[in-house]
Amino acid sequence: MSTTLLHDAVHIIQQGGLVAFPTETVYGLGANALNERAVAEIYAMKSRPRFNPLIVHFAAPGAARAQVRWNAPAEALADAFWPGPLTLVLPRAQDSRVALLASAGLPTLAVRVPAHPLARALLEAAGLPLAAPSANRSGRISPTAAAHVRAEFGDGVPVLDGGPCEVGLESTVVDLSGDAPLLLRSGAVTAEALSRVLGREVARAGKDAGIAAPGMLQSHYAPTLPLRLNADSVRPGEALLAFGPQPLTGAAYMLNLSEAGDVKEAAANLFAYLRRLDQKDFTGIAAMPVPQEGLGAAINDRLMRASRRDK
Ligand code: TXA
Ligand code: MG
Repeated sequence: MSTTLLHDAVHIIQQGGLVAFPTETVYGLGANALNERAVAEIYAMKSRPRFNPLIVHFAAPGAARAQVRWNAPAEALADAFWPGPLTLVLPRAQDSRVALLASAGLPTLAVRVPAHPLARALLEAAGLPLAAPSANRSGRISPTAAAHVRAEFGDGVPVLDGGPCEVGLESTVVDLSGDAPLLLRSGAVTAEALSRVLGREVARAGKDAGIAAPGMLQSHYAPTLPLRLNADSVRPGEALLAFGPQPLTGAAYMLNLSEAGDVKEAAANLFAYLRRLDQKDFTGIAAMPVPQEGLGAAINDRLMRASRRDK
């Protein structure tokens, strides 16, 4: 391990950039989890077709605990398996500073304390939580060595080389936000091991539990106000979610996702702006069209979900 590289990586993270780093499971593509714009870069780099929620990595359990509504099962599992290949899904804390884009607008947050010494060194030295999906392009196999990451992204992403990953499979993901614990993704920490610690059966998501992948869940953030897509004019009382250098006129209130028409900037602003516009003073939210290119497709996917009234 090279100290220079670690030093550089810390600097890049603190500047809002991306760094690939090893964990005991797979290599992660990390960015400052508190910075919406940095998190938007992750989605752009991976070419994710839509905003799947990301796991947020912490140096210590105490730091993770502060960003969620912690509960007794979480305490038991963290005690038993952290640091390690286990991710806990919990309700976001009211005052959580984690970027809304990291959890794709969901009311929950996936948190994990990795065990890999280089991951821990990076988290500690940066003094920030890291949002990190597996460091592969969307739809490809997760990387378990630095060379795999380079094959995915070339020189586009600096890589901290920690050798081959010990686990080589993504972390176990358990949802502890509901009445009963639910296994969303199997991994090195088995359902049996979870059940033993919790003293109760852990159901598997899927057909049994009637729950599909998180990206398919209907529980994505949707505003209370009606959201009107592809607006070419503003109706009386509407707030405007604008995009680009020529916003529509006549809105009661307006927020512009990106005056420059930059979809990455727009993605970073999207969830925060929707929340700010979702106020009783307005009759509805009119959203200007966003081009379908790059992260625009993901933005439109989220806007479309948010506009559906049939939940
Ligand atoms: O081992 C791992 O978990 C690796 C390393 C880098 O930590 N990361 C990883 O991230 O595999 P990713 O993005 O490839 O997978 C994250 C999984 C996805 O299945 C995602 O849907 C789920 O975690 N997830 C994240 N946040 C969630 C949430 N709030 N609710 C439900 N599922 C969530
Ligand atoms: Mg992945």
